[in-house]
Amino acid sequence: MIRCSAPGKVYLFGEHAVVYGEPAIACAIDKRVFTSVELKDDDSVRVTALNKRLYCDNQEFRYVCAAAKMIKELYNINFGADISIESELPSSQGLGSSAAVTVSTLMALSESLGIGLKDYEIAKLGHKVELYVQGTASQADTLVTSIGGMILITGVEMSKINFLNLPIIIGATGITRSTSDLVQKVAILKNRYPKLVGSIISCIGEVTRHGKSKLIEGDITGIGELMDINQGLLESLKISTLELNNLIYGARRAGAFGAKITGAGGGGSMYAIAQGANIDKVASQITLLGGQAIKAHFSDRGISVD
Ligand code: PMV
Repeated sequence: MIRCSAPGKVYLFGEHAVVYGEPAIACAIDKRVFTSVELKDDDSVRVTALNKRLYCDNQEFRYVCAAAKMIKELYNINFGADISIESELPSSQGLGSSAAVTVSTLMALSESLGIGLKDYEIAKLGHKVELYVQGTASQADTLVTSIGGMILITGVEMSKINFLNLPIIIGATGITRSTSDLVQKVAILKNRYPKLVGSIISCIGEVTRHGKSKLIEGDITGIGELMDINQGLLESLKISTLELNNLIYGARRAGAFGAKITGAGGGGSMYAIAQGANIDKVASQITLLGGQAIKAHFSDRGISVD
C-alpha cells in the first residue's frame, strides 16, 4: 500500500485582485489530506472517505475518481484500486482541500503504478483534473499544494518567495460558497464602477507588494497591519459576510496582529496571525463565535510519499 499526502493552503494577500492581474501570495499550511492506494486485480476503483465506500461510477468523490480516470487514460493503464482518504481540512471552506485530495491521489497512483511523476508534473495534471471537475480553476491551488511554501502569483507567473514559518489561526464559518459566483459578483461591481473598483483592485495589489517585503523582513506587526488593510479593501468589494466579520473582529479583539478572509469570501474561512498566549485566546474566541478554529502553521512541505 502507498500513502501520500498534500497540504491545504491560505491566501495571505491579494485574492480577487489576482483575477485582474495584480499579485497575490498564497502559502501551504501544515494541515494535510492523506490518500492511500492499494492496487487490486480487477479494473474498478473504490473510494473510502467520510465513512462511505463507493465505486467510481458514483457522483461522489469526483476529484479522486477524475484523478484515477486521468491516470488510466493518459498512461493507457487499466487498474483496479482501493483508495482511501483522510483529511485534516474541512472541505469547501477555501482551504484548498479539493486540490490537496487531487494531487495526493495522483501522487499515490503514480507511485503505486511506477509512473514516477514529479511535483511540478503532478501540479499540472492536478490542474487538469480540477478543470475537468469544476469547469474553471486557477493554477494556484494545485501548485501550492504540490510544491509547498509561499508562492507569489502574478497572472500566470508563479514563483516561490522566502518562506516564513509563522503560526496562524484559521476560522472556518462552515458556510459553503462558490468561488466562481463570488468572482462574478466582483466583476459585476467592477462593471458598474470601473474606475472606483479598479482603484480598489490596484490598492489590493499594492498591499500584496508591501506584504511581500514584510514577509521577507519577518515583520509580523507589519504583516498583521497589511492583513487588516487588505480585509478593509475586500470588504469594500462586498465579499465579506457578517459571520466572517464576527470571526475577524473577535480574533483582533483577542490579540491577533491581523485578521482577514482567506480565498473567495462569502463564507468559507478567515485567518489570523498571533503569537504566544494570544494563539489560544484567538482560537477560543473563534470557537465562542461559532467558527471552527484550526491552529496551524505556514508550511514549506508540498506533496510527499509518507
Ligand atoms: O476560495 P478559493 O480558495 O477558491 O480562492 C479563490 C481566490 C480568487 O482570487 C477569489 C479566485 C482565483 O481564481 O484566484
